[in-house]
Amino acid sequence: MEINNKNPVFVFLVSFIFLLCSSAQFCYGVDTIRQGQTVADDDTLVSEDETFELGFFSPENSTLRFVGIWYKVDVKAVIWVANRDSPISNRNGVLRIGVDGNLVVLNGNDSSLVWSSNVSGLSNNTAAVLQNTGNFVLSNNESIGDTSRAHWQSFDEPTDTFLPGMRVPVNSMIGEFRVFRSWKSASDPSLGNYTMGVDPNGGPQIVIWDRMARRWRSGQWNSVIFTGIPNMSNIASFLYGFKLSQPDENRTQYFTYDPSDPSDLLRFRLGWDGREQQLRWDDDRKTWTVMQTQPDPSNICDIYNHCGNHAVCDNLKAPKCNCLDGFRPRVPDQWSRGHWSGGCERRVQLQCQRTNGTNTNTTARQNGEPDGFKATRRVKLPDSSRLLLSATNVDACASSCLGNCSCSAYAFVSGIGCMIWEGDLVDLQHLDQVGNLQFFYRIHNSELDGGRKISNTSIIIICVLGACFLVVSIWLLWRYKKKVKRLPVVSSMPCCKDDDVAVFNESKTKEFSADLSGPTDILIDGSQVNGPELTIVNFSSVAAATKNFCEANKLGQGGFGTVYKGELRGGQEIAVKRLSGTSGQGLEEFKNEITLIAKLQHRNLVRLLGCSIEGEEKMLIYEYLPNKSLDYFLFDESKRALLDWRTRFSIIEGIARGLLYLHRDSRLRIIHRDLKSSNILLDAEMNPKISDFGMARIFGGNQNEANTVRVVGTYGYMSPEYAMEGLFSVKSDVYSFGVLLLEIISGQRNTSFRSSDHTSLIAYAWSLWNEDKATELVDPLIRDSCSTNVVLKCIHIGMLCVQDSAMHRPTMAAVVLMLESEAPTLPMPKQPTYTSMRSLVDEDYSMDIHETASASSKDVTVTMVDGR
Ligand SMILES: *[C@@H]1O[C@H](CO)[C@@H](O)[C@H](O)[C@H]1NC(C)=O
Ligand SMILES: *[C@@H]1O[C@H](CO)[C@@H](O)[C@H](O)[C@H]1NC(C)=O
Ligand SMILES: *[C@@H]1O[C@H](CO)[C@@H](O)[C@H](O)[C@H]1NC(C)=O
Ligand SMILES: *[C@@H]1O[C@H](CO)[C@@H](O)[C@H](O)[C@H]1NC(C)=O
Ligand SMILES: *[C@@H]1O[C@H](CO)[C@@H](O)[C@H](O)[C@H]1NC(C)=O
Ligand SMILES: *[C@@H]1O[C@H](CO)[C@@H](O)[C@H](O)[C@H]1NC(C)=O
Ligand SMILES: *[C@@H]1O[C@H](CO)[C@@H](O)[C@H](O)[C@H]1NC(C)=O
Ligand SMILES: *[C@@H]1O[C@H](CO)[C@@H](O)[C@H](O)[C@H]1NC(C)=O
Ligand SMILES: *[C@@H]1O[C@H](CO)[C@@H](O)[C@H](O)[C@H]1NC(C)=O
Ligand SMILES: *[C@@H]1O[C@H](CO)[C@@H](O)[C@H](O)[C@H]1NC(C)=O
Ligand SMILES: *[C@@H]1O[C@H](CO)[C@@H](O)[C@H](O)[C@H]1NC(C)=O
Repeated sequence: MEINNKNPVFVFLVSFIFLLCSSAQFCYGVDTIRQGQTVADDDTLVSEDETFELGFFSPENSTLRFVGIWYKVDVKAVIWVANRDSPISNRNGVLRIGVDGNLVVLNGNDSSLVWSSNVSGLSNNTAAVLQNTGNFVLSNNESIGDTSRAHWQSFDEPTDTFLPGMRVPVNSMIGEFRVFRSWKSASDPSLGNYTMGVDPNGGPQIVIWDRMARRWRSGQWNSVIFTGIPNMSNIASFLYGFKLSQPDENRTQYFTYDPSDPSDLLRFRLGWDGREQQLRWDDDRKTWTVMQTQPDPSNICDIYNHCGNHAVCDNLKAPKCNCLDGFRPRVPDQWSRGHWSGGCERRVQLQCQRTNGTNTNTTARQNGEPDGFKATRRVKLPDSSRLLLSATNVDACASSCLGNCSCSAYAFVSGIGCMIWEGDLVDLQHLDQVGNLQFFYRIHNSELDGGRKISNTSIIIICVLGACFLVVSIWLLWRYKKKVKRLPVVSSMPCCKDDDVAVFNESKTKEFSADLSGPTDILIDGSQVNGPELTIVNFSSVAAATKNFCEANKLGQGGFGTVYKGELRGGQEIAVKRLSGTSGQGLEEFKNEITLIAKLQHRNLVRLLGCSIEGEEKMLIYEYLPNKSLDYFLFDESKRALLDWRTRFSIIEGIARGLLYLHRDSRLRIIHRDLKSSNILLDAEMNPKISDFGMARIFGGNQNEANTVRVVGTYGYMSPEYAMEGLFSVKSDVYSFGVLLLEIISGQRNTSFRSSDHTSLIAYAWSLWNEDKATELVDPLIRDSCSTNVVLKCIHIGMLCVQDSAMHRPTMAAVVLMLESEAPTLPMPKQPTYTSMRSLVDEDYSMDIHETASASSKDVTVTMVDGR
């Protein structure tokens, strides 16, 4: 329908509306106030997208009038108050732009000034606009709404609420910046007792103060999360999304927050009761939902230094407070009655304090051993750290702390660096997250290793006991050997000789069948096991097939054990994985687990043919794949050319489908947890087959998404939330897949990638992607044969998979869909920042890992076991 502008009715309507508007000055939806205009008590400004509204309001149970900004939803949520300390008692107040160009609130009766934006030197043609972010910005009429040229903005003078889009400055020159201040009570916006802001020293952290004293702190920022907030990088956590910007010319950095879903209405509010809450508008239920509360009301240990100095608070323990090793309660009877605030003190004074000097002084040494460091983990790092920028690795950090008597503790934390503590250790809390946060505190040498000095009598007792033990062990060993000799075990057999047939005990056990695919009835310990699905094989048969685990038959080694090639007498080739260590499972559980895993069948998974269990010895028997693993081709100058673009793309697709099967289609919903190029095997047609799946299940923990006590993985492939907090989910595999994808396209290894400007392949890929030069990432060997569109699509998918936040990563189902669509519309990735701290991560993990360099790869597998 066309509107005829000359229609008199239309002209009338327009003029009528115009008249209405100019008389009332504001129509619904006006977001700007200009010179000469006023907002009266019953008027409001509304942001353009109608998210925020500005006007006069009275808090609940109060008749006083305040000018404020609130979320314009069914349950009004005030996020900013102008005249919080000078309310208007009647409804005649006005907001206007004063003659000096400032925003002012006037009491209507006598026109007295109630509040002013109070900027000096303004021109008289200013205007203010309420933006869609909730920011009320005063600027010159010409540059209206331009925050960079604003004279004043409400985001610079927040009251008690932090919003997405706000920036909180962090600068050690400014020092503590207490930017938020609570209301006095639920119905009184005037200044309350609590403030919240940033402490920039020693790794910036968020702090809530109760007047002058600290009440809560977030733990130091490690460039991805605040280290003292558990589960912050969890998939479901709405806290994930904080960023600290690069320093600007004045060396100021800014904390910002980007919600993962920009359409969410979110706010962080410092409540009048001193608790910060993150709230999200739930439009279906029409309420504000509390996403998290700090300090957590259910965790008394969140309260700052609840247990006093040198004590660790653990909410789940009784008693909640315990002294650090080497310390004792300062006031024992108070402590025993549950008054913790006295804290703990050293049992033995430090050596360096006695000798008044450095630990390394030789004279000091004569008086006693130098002090030592006690390591502790799973703690919220103490407050008041200092950064030692000169120490760039853990050893330098340790030695500079050891050499300075005033240093009481140190930690080398990825994303922060070398942290040093002086004096008392304050506000320690036990955190049940696997992280790499290891923290070392100085104690007297005698307190190390349990701390008790060994007396002469105990030495004698220990010697006697030791001798007895030795005798008994030798006897047991002798008996065992006798028994072993009677068993058909091949440990004494010379390796690699082809006389294996002799070791079969064919009378007792049916020989390892030449055809493993069909149903078998192989016996173990004389009983039949589990029908057709899983073949359980006699140990000696396996030993024979692998020529007694001959070194020459070794195919490789991974975190879970060594892989050998074997050949059955029928000629069928197999790969045997000899599991190392204990799986933490009983025999029955282990068998059940293997049976389940053996049922997973997919063309992109390596087939598990059977297993062998004999005592502690556990082995898995797989199909043998002649073309070794992907890394064998991909990272070898001469063999890389064999992988043309079509092969690589089909490998990418194959891995994606295999992973999708594990994540979604198989009944077990397996999370691989150690996906990497050396775990992708290639068959004769170069079809990829994922191996080592289900290992994480066998080795404990079959939850779908959980916080694990055991981190298994490989540098460079580990997602940030997994590496730092031990949180894993299908999205951790997606991250590893993204890394693998970028490796396949570039032909470069993420772990050993070095270029002048970039510390990792991901950072390099991002910078090329960002400059629209993504094609330069592509391996020169395939640049000509590949289709640019497809390869760009793959890089795009790769970037999406390696997003820092698990929430931003696609699922494998989405990845497969994207790979198969011709021209999918893909979301834009954000910059992955986690990789920029990778070099530090390496240093950090190297302290307590169990390294096994695989024969064909330089990857290092990390297995961190941490008993609770
Ligand atoms: C307002 O007053 C009512 C009745 O006294 C009370 O139940 C309610 O909690 C008060 N609200 C606030 C925000 O103080
Ligand atoms: C303010 O002005 C209104 C009318 O303009 C009047 O009714 C009211 O009494 C005045 N209040 C004070 C405190 O002067
Ligand atoms: C405005 O600023 C000046 C100096 O910057 C200060 O003295 C004055 O108290 C302020 N006035 C208000 C109403 O905040
Ligand atoms: C603004 O200031 C200029 C000079 O400073 C003056 O000429 C003009 O009249 C003023 N306009 C208003 C609306 O006050
Ligand atoms: C401010 O700018 C608007 C349009 O940009 C114009 O209509 C208005 O007259 C200006 N007001 C003043 C006081 O300069
Ligand atoms: C604020 O501090 C005062 C003085 O100590 C105290 O009386 C009051 O209860 C405190 N208010 C809150 C909300 O904690
Ligand atoms: C840096 O500080 C100077 C002087 O205080 C100021 O003029 C400038 O705007 C500041 N730069 C930034 C980016 O804030
Ligand atoms: C340690 O040094 C302080 C001052 O540096 C001195 O007062 C004190 O006597 C010294 N103590 C010993 C045991 O040397
Ligand atoms: C070691 O300490 C003693 C005092 O305990 C002091 O006299 C001596 O100079 C120190 N030696 C060095 C090398 O610092
Ligand atoms: C030891 O630490 C203190 C406090 O940080 C510092 O002032 C002093 O220079 C350090 N001494 C040495 C020898 O590094
Ligand atoms: C952290 O997450 C795990 C699993 O997701 C959960 O069991 C645990 O309670 C969470 N911890 C906290 C403090 O929220």
